[in-house]
Amino acid sequence: MSVPGREQPFARRAREAKRHLSEGKGGSGLYYPDDVLREVRERTDIVSVISRYVTLTRKGRNYFGLCPFHGEKTASFSVNPGEQFYHCFGCGAGGNVFTFLQNIENISFGEAVQKLAEEAHVALPQVELSPREKERRERRQKMQEANREAALFYYTQLVKSPYAEEARRYLEGRQVTTEYLKKFGLGYAPIARSALCGYLLKKGYPEEMLRALNLASGEGSKLYDRFFNRVMFPIFDPQGKVIAFGGRVIGKGEPKYLNSSDTELFNKRKNLYAMNLAKKTRRKQALVVEGYMDVFSLHQAGFDNAVASLGTALTTDQALLLKRYFEEVCLIYDSDTAGTNAAKRAIPILEQAGLRVRVLRVPGAKDPDEYVRANGAEAFEEQIEHALDPVEFEMAVSNMSTVDGRVEVLDAMRERLSHIENDAERELHIRDVADRLKISPQTLAKEVDELRRTAGMREYEEAKAQVVRRRGKGRSAVENACIELLACLVHVPGLRKAVAESLPEEELPEAPPYREVYRYLLAQGSRVVLAADLFGLSDEEEAQERLVAIGAQALPEEPAEIVKMAAENLRMIRQVAIDEKLRSVADVEEMQRLIAAKKALETQSIQIQS
Ligand code: GTP
Ligand code: MN
Repeated sequence: MSVPGREQPFARRAREAKRHLSEGKGGSGLYYPDDVLREVRERTDIVSVISRYVTLTRKGRNYFGLCPFHGEKTASFSVNPGEQFYHCFGCGAGGNVFTFLQNIENISFGEAVQKLAEEAHVALPQVELSPREKERRERRQKMQEANREAALFYYTQLVKSPYAEEARRYLEGRQVTTEYLKKFGLGYAPIARSALCGYLLKKGYPEEMLRALNLASGEGSKLYDRFFNRVMFPIFDPQGKVIAFGGRVIGKGEPKYLNSSDTELFNKRKNLYAMNLAKKTRRKQALVVEGYMDVFSLHQAGFDNAVASLGTALTTDQALLLKRYFEEVCLIYDSDTAGTNAAKRAIPILEQAGLRVRVLRVPGAKDPDEYVRANGAEAFEEQIEHALDPVEFEMAVSNMSTVDGRVEVLDAMRERLSHIENDAERELHIRDVADRLKISPQTLAKEVDELRRTAGMREYEEAKAQVVRRRGKGRSAVENACIELLACLVHVPGLRKAVAESLPEEELPEAPPYREVYRYLLAQGSRVVLAADLFGLSDEEEAQERLVAIGAQALPEEPAEIVKMAAENLRMIRQVAIDEKLRSVADVEEMQRLIAAKKALETQSIQIQS
């Protein structure tokens, strides 16, 4: 009979070594066995998966393209099918097919595995959670529940409380219907300073959690609601979970809106208001507006494709979120200078995410909410149909009657045209713009080419400088030695045993993922390991960069040279580790032993075993 808890440490360690920690940034926290990950990976063509997002060109054994993780005009993104590995030397992104999907789709590592397993018809086993992850999930779930309870509390107050009369009248005045009030879950935060806190504490949610959710501040008898006497707009994630709140004063007052700051559940730069509803639309175009009330009014008027950013300028993450559900975006910002500038900044971000862009400036109204209430849905639909493309927009907001104004448009256009990678497409756009600006297409084409050349050069230089900086950045000589040694061990299985015999794991730097990778490689014995197998061994952000460095490390062609490289690095790592021990050792015998070990390093050599 086996006694739980009395398992041999060795057996446990051996089993753990066989497991992949496949927790992604999104925190799926799933452990999938290494074999399963390999099987999915082997049945998946990394080149064809990445080709869904990036145009790849073959050069020798590798494929190259424009990196989807940072803006660039020269291809510094490479895919190595042999190693099942991708890497961008411009921004340092890298990994295997799972991390690619994770990063490009903004999902967790576990979700990426599930997606690709499904495509490859590989059945995934039931997964176990790590204790830490289990705790984290339980907390998240509890926090989500608390948010839901809060939204429900506010909603109930709004529809039932006699004290919410003013709020109800305010919303009526803004023509809010009962149906949409319910659909958006609008609510009312009462005037009493601890109404919500009292309610949630009684339901068993701890004080600390209410603070962490940004629903309360203070403590004990001085624990106060963050929101009071406001109309509440719950903010949902795309899956429909309440992640934050925006609260508006009733009528006039400062600040007009109070919003949750970022919490464990909420990142305002990664979410869009009403995306949970808009993602269900049948339209292919999203309407991106500025305010909560704009979104609300538009939905109520039948535009179920409206979303708003959450009090920040539009971010790349938000553009990528839109790209998951839409092909085109119509930007509808206020017609003032701030709104115009916001649109100007948002256009390239959306275009880089692969979205077509149009811009609408609503005539004679402050914002879409006002316009649609004054003129109706049909008139608004008409406006959308006549929304400007980015060129027209640029021309419309500049003073085309002066030379300066036209030069300004020309500058913006050159820049924009230079980003179009397809030659034929670029030519068509150049002709179109030249025609509209009344200049010769040849002149414009020449200028755009020139800009592409210099921008390309500049970008190349910048990328190169960045790589040099990153290599230098906080990475010690011993870390670089580790990276080289581990790369040798990945590609030459015959080296693993010899290295294992002379290099104890604890002599490697403690920072993740060196020891994890070392342990993993030794556990593989003589099995072939690809760079791709390393990803998932550690999910810490700094570890990712080092994993990429190990995967991207070039090795000499000659096996003898690789052995030499491994031996030199091993010596260096041991030397540093022994020196470190010598600094703190008090025992004389131990000191002598260490000095002897250090001396022995000079003559130590390793051999490939097959
Ligand atoms: P209404 O005046 O009720 O029509 O609001 P609106 O939705 O039209 O808002 P407005 O155009 O004034 O602002 C756009 C968005 O900016 C709002 O939805 C909020 O997200 C944000 N915002 C506006 N005022 C404030 C403020 O005082 N504080 C903060 N943090 N955000 C604000
Ligand atoms: Mn408004």
